[in-house]
Amino acid sequence: MKKIIIAIDGFSSCGKSTMAKDLAKEIGYIYIDSGAMYRAVTLYCLQHGMFNADGSIQEETLKQQMKDIHISFQLDPASQRPATYLNGKNVEEEIRTIEVSSHVSPIATLGFVREEMVRQQQAMGKEKGIVMDGRDIGTAVFPHAELKIFVTASAQIRAERRYKELKEKGQDVSFEEILKNIEDRDRIDQSREISPLRKADDALLLDNSHMSIAEQKEWLKEQFNKAT
Ligand code: C5P
Repeated sequence: MKKIIIAIDGFSSCGKSTMAKDLAKEIGYIYIDSGAMYRAVTLYCLQHGMFNADGSIQEETLKQQMKDIHISFQLDPASQRPATYLNGKNVEEEIRTIEVSSHVSPIATLGFVREEMVRQQQAMGKEKGIVMDGRDIGTAVFPHAELKIFVTASAQIRAERRYKELKEKGQDVSFEEILKNIEDRDRIDQSREISPLRKADDALLLDNSHMSIAEQKEWLKEQFNKAT
């Protein structure tokens, strides 16, 4: 069967990665979480004191250090789970904290960061057989992807899901903080100059506000079958 590229874009915390990961596993494709790459760059900036007190970023310093930031996706030998690695260290948990979430969108507005991430993402999709989720996969990274999905859900519902998930992981967060973070990221992601978050004209729209994970999974599989 011919291999295709599947681009899944959409708003923060709308369950894109769960859907994308499940589908990739079922159809034997590679799964790439492009948001994890922007998160890893953000974590690096936090670790290296590149944020000023007002939350702005020291752009020149980051530009010079981009070549020292190596991101990869590997199987963690201890847990046998796929994980995001930053300069050889598993940072899968660290990149999901609210601190990283609240600094990532400004980093993702920077042209030189996006250029480098997109270059790496396109290289990962060279052989096709890939499911990638993010904000600009169907519009900028793989504009010719054979299957494009754009996922959305109300901000309230997304915040409830995220709150539950972080609480279960033992993170000390408030619902209001998460809702604000989601709304802020929606605003920054949609209004940035380079590759703003928007639905590609040829993407299928999925509002999963009132769908179960099983229902979404089935819907996505159906779209994959139609596309191949
Ligand atoms: O998908 P996730 O919420 O983990 O992504 C974190 C952030 O990275 C997003 O809020 C967005 O600012 C940025 N991002 C992006 N382009 C992508 C994926 C993520 O700008 N393709």
